Amino acid sequence: MPAVPAAASASLPAAAPRPALSGLVDQFGRVASDMRLSLTDKCNLRCHYCMPEDGLEWLKKSKLLTAAEIVRLVGLGVERLGVRELRLTGGEPLVRADLVDIIAALRRNHPSLPISLTTNGVGLAGKAQALAEAGLTRLNVSMDTLHHDAFLQLTRRPFLDQVLAGIEAADAAGLRPLKVNAVLMRGVNDGHAAGLLGWCLDRGYELRFIEQMPLDADHGWTRDGMITAAEIRGLLGGTFELAPDPRSREGAPAERFEVRHPGSPALLGTVGIIASVTEPFCADCRRTRITAEGKVMSCLFSRTEVDLLALLRAGTSPDDDDAVAARWQDAMWAKPKAHGMGHPGLGDADFVQPDRSMSAIGG
Ligand code: 5AD
Ligand code: SF4
Repeated sequence: MPAVPAAASASLPAAAPRPALSGLVDQFGRVASDMRLSLTDKCNLRCHYCMPEDGLEWLKKSKLLTAAEIVRLVGLGVERLGVRELRLTGGEPLVRADLVDIIAALRRNHPSLPISLTTNGVGLAGKAQALAEAGLTRLNVSMDTLHHDAFLQLTRRPFLDQVLAGIEAADAAGLRPLKVNAVLMRGVNDGHAAGLLGWCLDRGYELRFIEQMPLDADHGWTRDGMITAAEIRGLLGGTFELAPDPRSREGAPAERFEVRHPGSPALLGTVGIIASVTEPFCADCRRTRITAEGKVMSCLFSRTEVDLLALLRAGTSPDDDDAVAARWQDAMWAKPKAHGMGHPGLGDADFVQPDRSMSAIGG
Protein backbone atom coordinates (compact mmCIF):
# COMPACT_ATOMS: atom_id res chain seq x y z
CA MET A 1 0.00 0.00 0.00
CA PRO A 2 1.34 3.45 -0.77
CA ALA A 3 2.68 5.19 2.30
CA VAL A 4 0.25 7.46 4.09
CA PRO A 5 2.11 10.30 5.74
CA ALA A 6 1.38 10.78 9.41
CA ALA A 7 0.14 14.29 8.74
CA ALA A 8 -2.74 12.91 6.71
CA SER A 9 -4.40 11.45 9.76
CA ALA A 10 -3.58 14.24 12.20
CA SER A 11 -6.19 16.95 12.38
CA LEU A 12 -9.42 18.12 10.86
CA PRO A 13 -9.32 21.05 8.48
CA ALA A 14 -10.65 24.32 9.84
CA ALA A 15 -14.44 24.29 9.75
CA ALA A 16 -17.18 26.18 11.49
CA PRO A 17 -17.99 24.45 14.79
CA ARG A 18 -20.42 21.59 14.34
CA PRO A 19 -23.88 22.37 15.71
CA ALA A 20 -25.62 19.65 17.70
CA LEU A 21 -27.34 17.91 14.80
CA SER A 22 -28.28 14.30 14.52
CA GLY A 23 -26.85 12.25 11.69
CA LEU A 24 -23.85 12.64 9.43
CA VAL A 25 -24.39 16.17 8.23
CA ASP A 26 -21.80 18.47 6.65
CA GLN A 27 -21.35 22.23 6.49
CA PHE A 28 -22.88 22.34 3.03
CA GLY A 29 -26.13 20.70 4.08
CA ARG A 30 -25.45 17.25 2.66
CA VAL A 31 -26.55 14.27 4.75
CA ALA A 32 -24.58 11.02 4.44
CA SER A 33 -26.77 7.92 4.63
CA ASP A 34 -24.75 5.63 2.36
CA MET A 35 -21.94 3.92 4.28
CA ARG A 36 -18.98 2.39 2.42
CA LEU A 37 -16.88 0.17 4.60
CA SER A 38 -13.59 -1.32 3.44
CA LEU A 39 -12.86 -4.76 4.88
CA THR A 40 -9.25 -5.10 3.76
CA ASP A 41 -6.55 -3.30 1.79
CA LYS A 42 -5.45 -6.60 0.22
CA CYS A 43 -6.27 -7.60 -3.33
CA ASN A 44 -5.52 -10.53 -5.61
CA LEU A 45 -5.40 -8.38 -8.77
CA ARG A 46 -3.06 -5.49 -9.60
CA CYS A 47 -5.17 -3.21 -11.80
CA HIS A 48 -3.09 -0.44 -13.34
CA TYR A 49 -5.53 2.29 -12.37
CA CYS A 50 -5.34 1.27 -8.71
CA MET A 51 -2.31 -0.72 -7.55
CA PRO A 52 1.39 -0.86 -8.41
CA GLU A 53 2.91 -4.09 -9.74
CA ASP A 54 4.69 -4.76 -6.47
CA GLY A 55 6.17 -2.98 -3.50
CA LEU A 56 2.92 -3.19 -1.59
CA GLU A 57 3.00 -3.59 2.11
CA TRP A 58 -0.26 -4.85 3.62
CA LEU A 59 -1.67 -3.45 6.80
CA LYS A 60 -0.98 -5.59 9.85
CA LYS A 61 -3.96 -7.67 10.88
CA SER A 62 -3.98 -6.03 14.32
CA LYS A 63 -4.63 -2.67 12.60
CA LEU A 64 -7.70 -3.87 10.72
CA LEU A 65 -11.20 -3.56 12.07
CA THR A 66 -12.24 -6.90 13.55
CA ALA A 67 -15.58 -8.48 12.69
CA ALA A 68 -16.95 -7.36 16.08
CA GLU A 69 -15.74 -3.79 15.50
CA ILE A 70 -17.36 -3.75 12.07
CA VAL A 71 -20.66 -4.93 13.52
CA ARG A 72 -20.46 -2.27 16.23
CA LEU A 73 -19.63 0.54 13.79
CA VAL A 74 -22.44 -0.39 11.42
CA GLY A 75 -24.80 -0.57 14.43
CA LEU A 76 -23.80 2.95 15.46
CA GLY A 77 -24.22 4.18 11.91
CA VAL A 78 -27.67 2.65 11.46
CA GLU A 79 -29.11 3.14 14.94
CA ARG A 80 -27.83 6.63 15.69
CA LEU A 81 -26.44 8.32 12.62
CA GLY A 82 -28.98 7.74 9.88
CA VAL A 83 -27.11 5.18 7.75
CA ARG A 84 -29.69 3.65 5.36
CA GLU A 85 -27.51 1.45 3.18
CA LEU A 86 -24.19 -0.31 3.44
CA ARG A 87 -21.63 -1.27 0.81
CA LEU A 88 -18.73 -3.54 1.73
CA THR A 89 -15.59 -2.86 -0.29
CA GLY A 90 -11.83 -3.40 -0.20
CA GLY A 91 -9.18 -3.98 -1.57
CA GLU A 92 -10.94 -7.20 -2.40
CA PRO A 93 -13.46 -8.08 0.32
CA LEU A 94 -13.57 -11.77 -0.67
CA VAL A 95 -9.99 -12.25 0.54
CA ARG A 96 -11.25 -11.72 4.07
CA ALA A 97 -11.86 -15.18 5.54
CA ASP A 98 -14.64 -13.99 7.88
CA LEU A 99 -16.64 -12.15 5.17
CA VAL A 100 -19.64 -14.51 5.22
CA ASP A 101 -19.77 -14.40 9.04
CA ILE A 102 -19.62 -10.59 9.01
CA ILE A 103 -22.53 -10.39 6.56
CA ALA A 104 -24.55 -12.90 8.58
CA ALA A 105 -23.97 -10.90 11.79
CA LEU A 106 -24.90 -7.62 10.10
CA ARG A 107 -28.05 -9.19 8.67
CA ARG A 108 -29.10 -10.55 12.09
CA ASN A 109 -28.83 -7.05 13.59
CA HIS A 110 -30.33 -5.18 10.64
CA PRO A 111 -32.97 -7.32 8.92
CA SER A 112 -33.96 -4.70 6.34
CA LEU A 113 -30.67 -2.89 5.68
CA PRO A 114 -29.57 -3.09 2.03
CA ILE A 115 -26.09 -4.65 2.16
CA SER A 116 -24.10 -4.74 -1.06
CA LEU A 117 -20.61 -5.85 -1.94
CA THR A 118 -18.12 -4.62 -4.52
CA THR A 119 -15.84 -7.43 -5.63
CA ASN A 120 -13.45 -8.20 -8.47
CA GLY A 121 -15.14 -11.60 -8.79
CA VAL A 122 -11.99 -13.68 -8.27
CA GLY A 123 -13.01 -16.52 -5.95
CA LEU A 124 -16.67 -15.51 -6.13
CA ALA A 125 -17.82 -18.74 -7.78
CA GLY A 126 -17.22 -20.73 -4.59
CA LYS A 127 -18.75 -18.13 -2.26
CA ALA A 128 -21.76 -16.63 -4.05
CA GLN A 129 -24.29 -19.06 -2.59
CA ALA A 130 -22.99 -18.62 0.96
CA LEU A 131 -23.04 -14.83 0.57
CA ALA A 132 -26.65 -14.93 -0.58
CA GLU A 133 -27.62 -17.24 2.29
CA ALA A 134 -25.85 -14.98 4.80
CA GLY A 135 -28.12 -12.16 3.70
CA LEU A 136 -26.17 -10.16 1.13
CA THR A 137 -28.59 -8.02 -0.89
CA ARG A 138 -26.62 -7.19 -4.04
CA LEU A 139 -23.27 -7.43 -5.78
CA ASN A 140 -21.18 -5.22 -8.04
CA VAL A 141 -18.52 -7.11 -9.94
CA SER A 142 -15.65 -5.15 -11.47
CA MET A 143 -14.80 -6.49 -14.93
CA ASP A 144 -13.28 -4.20 -17.52
CA THR A 145 -13.13 -6.48 -20.55
CA LEU A 146 -14.13 -9.90 -21.86
CA HIS A 147 -10.79 -10.32 -23.69
CA HIS A 148 -8.20 -12.44 -21.92
CA ASP A 149 -5.20 -10.50 -23.19
CA ALA A 150 -6.62 -7.11 -22.23
CA PHE A 151 -7.73 -8.47 -18.84
CA LEU A 152 -4.18 -9.66 -18.19
CA GLN A 153 -2.77 -6.33 -19.31
CA LEU A 154 -5.14 -4.34 -17.09
CA THR A 155 -5.08 -6.49 -13.96
CA ARG A 156 -1.65 -8.14 -14.39
CA ARG A 157 -3.31 -11.46 -13.47
CA PRO A 158 -4.82 -14.19 -15.73
CA PHE A 159 -8.08 -14.62 -13.82
CA LEU A 160 -10.80 -13.61 -16.31
CA ASP A 161 -12.35 -17.09 -16.38
CA GLN A 162 -12.66 -17.05 -12.59
CA VAL A 163 -14.44 -13.71 -12.75
CA LEU A 164 -16.86 -14.98 -15.40
CA ALA A 165 -17.59 -18.08 -13.32
CA GLY A 166 -18.13 -15.80 -10.30
CA ILE A 167 -20.66 -13.66 -12.14
CA GLU A 168 -22.53 -16.77 -13.29
CA ALA A 169 -22.59 -18.15 -9.74
CA ALA A 170 -23.84 -14.84 -8.30
CA ASP A 171 -26.62 -14.76 -10.87
CA ALA A 172 -27.55 -18.37 -10.06
CA ALA A 173 -27.59 -17.53 -6.34
CA GLY A 174 -30.16 -14.80 -7.02
CA LEU A 175 -27.88 -11.87 -6.18
CA ARG A 176 -29.71 -9.46 -8.45
CA PRO A 177 -29.80 -6.85 -9.85
CA LEU A 178 -26.20 -7.67 -10.69
CA LYS A 179 -24.07 -4.71 -11.65
CA VAL A 180 -20.82 -4.83 -13.58
CA ASN A 181 -18.30 -1.98 -13.16
CA ALA A 182 -15.81 -1.18 -15.89
CA VAL A 183 -12.99 1.33 -16.15
CA LEU A 184 -11.73 2.05 -19.66
CA MET A 185 -8.06 2.65 -20.42
CA ARG A 186 -6.99 4.12 -23.72
CA GLY A 187 -5.50 1.62 -26.11
CA VAL A 188 -6.21 -1.32 -23.79
CA ASN A 189 -9.97 -1.89 -23.50
CA ASP A 190 -11.63 1.25 -24.89
CA GLY A 191 -12.42 -0.71 -28.06
CA HIS A 192 -14.29 -3.30 -25.95
CA ALA A 193 -16.90 -0.97 -24.44
CA ALA A 194 -19.78 -1.74 -26.81
CA GLY A 195 -19.05 -5.49 -26.79
CA LEU A 196 -19.10 -5.55 -22.99
CA LEU A 197 -22.39 -3.65 -22.96
CA GLY A 198 -23.94 -6.12 -25.42
CA TRP A 199 -22.80 -9.04 -23.26
CA CYS A 200 -24.31 -7.47 -20.11
CA LEU A 201 -27.60 -6.57 -21.83
CA ASP A 202 -27.98 -10.15 -23.10
CA ARG A 203 -27.75 -11.39 -19.52
CA GLY A 204 -29.75 -8.66 -17.79
CA TYR A 205 -26.76 -7.21 -15.92
CA GLU A 206 -26.47 -3.46 -15.44
CA LEU A 207 -23.14 -2.21 -16.75
CA ARG A 208 -21.65 0.99 -15.36
CA PHE A 209 -18.60 2.66 -16.81
CA ILE A 210 -16.52 4.60 -14.27
CA GLU A 211 -14.28 7.40 -15.46
CA GLN A 212 -10.74 6.69 -14.41
CA MET A 213 -9.95 8.77 -11.35
CA PRO A 214 -6.50 9.85 -10.16
CA LEU A 215 -6.40 7.19 -7.44
CA ASP A 216 -3.69 4.93 -8.80
CA ALA A 217 -0.76 4.10 -6.56
CA ASP A 218 1.69 4.79 -9.41
CA HIS A 219 0.33 8.33 -9.93
CA GLY A 220 0.22 7.58 -13.66
CA TRP A 221 -3.20 9.19 -14.26
CA THR A 222 -3.31 12.07 -16.71
CA ARG A 223 -6.21 14.21 -17.77
CA ASP A 224 -5.42 13.59 -21.43
CA GLY A 225 -4.99 9.86 -20.92
CA MET A 226 -8.33 9.24 -19.24
CA ILE A 227 -11.43 8.32 -21.23
CA THR A 228 -14.17 10.83 -20.49
CA ALA A 229 -17.89 10.17 -20.10
CA ALA A 230 -18.49 12.03 -23.36
CA GLU A 231 -16.05 9.71 -25.12
CA ILE A 232 -17.70 6.66 -23.57
CA ARG A 233 -21.08 7.80 -24.89
CA GLY A 234 -19.42 8.16 -28.30
CA LEU A 235 -17.84 4.69 -28.12
CA LEU A 236 -21.22 3.13 -27.35
CA GLY A 237 -23.06 5.33 -29.84
CA GLY A 238 -21.55 3.48 -32.80
CA THR A 239 -23.50 0.34 -31.86
CA PHE A 240 -26.35 1.45 -29.59
CA GLU A 241 -28.69 4.39 -29.23
CA LEU A 242 -28.57 5.96 -25.76
CA ALA A 243 -31.38 8.09 -24.30
CA PRO A 244 -31.32 9.64 -20.81
CA ASP A 245 -33.22 7.42 -18.36
CA PRO A 246 -36.29 9.36 -17.21
CA ARG A 247 -36.04 7.88 -13.70
CA SER A 248 -34.58 10.30 -11.18
CA ARG A 249 -30.93 9.93 -10.31
CA GLU A 250 -31.59 10.41 -6.55
CA GLY A 251 -28.01 11.09 -5.55
CA ALA A 252 -26.71 8.02 -7.38
CA PRO A 253 -23.35 8.67 -8.99
CA ALA A 254 -24.20 6.95 -12.26
CA GLU A 255 -26.05 8.82 -14.97
CA ARG A 256 -28.30 6.19 -16.49
CA PHE A 257 -29.19 5.79 -20.14
CA GLU A 258 -31.75 3.60 -21.83
CA VAL A 259 -30.16 1.46 -24.53
CA ARG A 260 -31.74 0.50 -27.86
CA HIS A 261 -30.55 -0.70 -31.23
CA PRO A 262 -30.47 2.34 -33.56
CA GLY A 263 -33.92 2.97 -34.98
CA SER A 264 -35.60 0.26 -32.87
CA PRO A 265 -38.17 1.07 -30.16
CA ALA A 266 -37.35 -2.07 -28.13
CA LEU A 267 -35.64 -1.28 -24.84
CA LEU A 268 -32.61 -3.54 -24.35
CA GLY A 269 -31.76 -2.33 -20.85
CA THR A 270 -29.81 0.50 -19.28
CA VAL A 271 -26.19 1.55 -18.93
CA GLY A 272 -24.69 3.84 -16.29
CA ILE A 273 -21.81 6.25 -16.71
CA ILE A 274 -20.09 7.58 -13.60
CA ALA A 275 -18.39 10.82 -14.59
CA SER A 276 -16.63 11.59 -11.33
CA VAL A 277 -13.96 13.63 -13.08
CA THR A 278 -15.66 15.53 -15.90
CA GLU A 279 -19.20 15.87 -14.52
CA PRO A 280 -18.77 15.63 -10.75
CA PHE A 281 -21.74 15.06 -8.48
CA CYS A 282 -20.23 16.24 -5.19
CA ALA A 283 -23.21 18.49 -4.39
CA ASP A 284 -25.45 15.40 -4.15
CA CYS A 285 -22.97 13.12 -2.40
CA ARG A 286 -24.46 10.93 0.35
CA ARG A 287 -21.42 8.81 1.11
CA THR A 288 -19.43 8.27 4.28
CA ARG A 289 -16.40 6.01 3.98
CA ILE A 290 -14.58 3.98 6.61
CA THR A 291 -11.23 2.46 5.70
CA ALA A 292 -10.20 -1.06 6.69
CA GLU A 293 -8.22 0.40 9.58
CA GLY A 294 -11.22 2.28 10.95
CA LYS A 295 -10.61 5.78 9.62
CA VAL A 296 -13.37 8.02 8.36
CA MET A 297 -12.81 9.50 4.92
CA SER A 298 -15.54 12.02 4.28
CA CYS A 299 -14.69 11.94 0.57
CA LEU A 300 -12.84 9.56 -1.78
CA PHE A 301 -10.38 12.35 -2.48
CA SER A 302 -10.06 13.49 1.11
CA ARG A 303 -6.55 14.11 2.37
CA THR A 304 -7.79 14.03 5.94
CA GLU A 305 -8.53 10.82 7.81
CA VAL A 306 -10.13 10.63 11.20
CA ASP A 307 -9.32 7.59 13.28
CA LEU A 308 -12.16 5.74 15.01
CA LEU A 309 -10.22 2.57 15.81
CA ALA A 310 -8.48 3.90 18.92
CA LEU A 311 -11.81 5.09 20.30
CA LEU A 312 -13.47 1.79 19.44
CA ARG A 313 -10.71 -0.04 21.28
CA ALA A 314 -10.86 2.30 24.29
CA GLY A 315 -14.00 0.56 25.52
CA THR A 316 -17.53 -0.56 24.74
CA SER A 317 -19.59 1.40 27.27
CA PRO A 318 -22.40 3.73 26.09
CA ASP A 319 -19.99 6.65 26.75
CA ASP A 320 -17.45 5.10 24.39
CA ASP A 321 -20.16 4.69 21.75
CA ASP A 322 -21.07 8.37 22.20
CA ALA A 323 -17.42 9.34 21.64
CA VAL A 324 -17.12 7.24 18.47
CA ALA A 325 -20.37 8.62 17.06
CA ALA A 326 -19.36 12.22 17.83
CA ARG A 327 -15.96 11.79 16.17
CA TRP A 328 -17.58 10.31 13.08
CA GLN A 329 -19.98 13.28 12.96
CA ASP A 330 -17.05 15.72 13.36
CA ALA A 331 -15.24 14.06 10.46
CA MET A 332 -18.26 14.32 8.20
CA TRP A 333 -18.97 17.91 9.22
CA ALA A 334 -15.58 18.79 7.69
CA LYS A 335 -16.36 17.03 4.37
CA PRO A 336 -14.96 19.13 1.53
CA LYS A 337 -17.43 20.86 -0.74
CA ALA A 338 -15.99 19.24 -3.86
CA HIS A 339 -12.92 17.36 -4.99
CA GLY A 340 -11.52 20.15 -7.14
CA MET A 341 -11.49 18.39 -10.51
CA GLY A 342 -13.77 19.75 -13.17
CA HIS A 343 -15.72 22.09 -10.91
CA PRO A 344 -16.36 25.61 -12.17
CA GLY A 345 -14.17 27.94 -10.13
CA LEU A 346 -12.13 25.05 -8.80
CA GLY A 347 -9.60 24.27 -11.50
CA ASP A 348 -7.56 21.08 -11.71
CA ALA A 349 -4.70 23.09 -10.25
CA ASP A 350 -6.49 22.96 -6.90
CA PHE A 351 -6.70 19.20 -6.99
CA VAL A 352 -4.13 17.19 -5.09
CA GLN A 353 -4.11 13.41 -5.56
CA PRO A 354 -4.65 11.60 -2.26
CA ASP A 355 -1.80 9.48 -0.95
CA ARG A 356 -3.94 6.39 -0.83
CA SER A 357 -4.89 4.34 -3.85
CA MET A 358 -8.44 3.10 -4.41
CA SER A 359 -7.49 -0.27 -2.90
CA ALA A 360 -6.46 1.40 0.33
CA ILE A 361 -9.55 3.61 0.58
CA GLY A 362 -12.31 1.30 -0.51
CA GLY A 363 -14.29 1.97 -3.68
N1 5AD B 1 -10.66 5.16 -11.17
C1 5AD B 1 -11.93 4.69 -11.33
N2 5AD B 1 -12.36 3.54 -10.78
C2 5AD B 1 -11.48 2.84 -10.06
N3 5AD B 1 -11.62 1.69 -9.41
C3 5AD B 1 -10.45 1.40 -8.81
N4 5AD B 1 -9.54 2.36 -9.05
C4 5AD B 1 -10.16 3.27 -9.83
C5 5AD B 1 -9.77 4.48 -10.44
N5 5AD B 1 -8.53 4.97 -10.30
C6 5AD B 1 -12.87 0.94 -9.45
C7 5AD B 1 -12.74 -0.54 -9.53
C8 5AD B 1 -14.01 -1.00 -8.90
C9 5AD B 1 -14.43 0.10 -7.99
C10 5AD B 1 -14.35 -0.27 -6.56
O1 5AD B 1 -13.56 1.17 -8.24
O2 5AD B 1 -12.66 -0.98 -10.84
O3 5AD B 1 -15.02 -1.21 -9.83
FE1 SF4 C 1 -18.56 12.96 -2.88
FE2 SF4 C 1 -16.08 13.45 -2.45
FE3 SF4 C 1 -16.81 11.91 -4.45
FE4 SF4 C 1 -17.23 14.52 -4.50
S1 SF4 C 1 -15.32 13.53 -4.52
S2 SF4 C 1 -18.64 12.91 -5.08
S3 SF4 C 1 -17.69 14.91 -2.35
S4 SF4 C 1 -17.07 11.43 -2.34
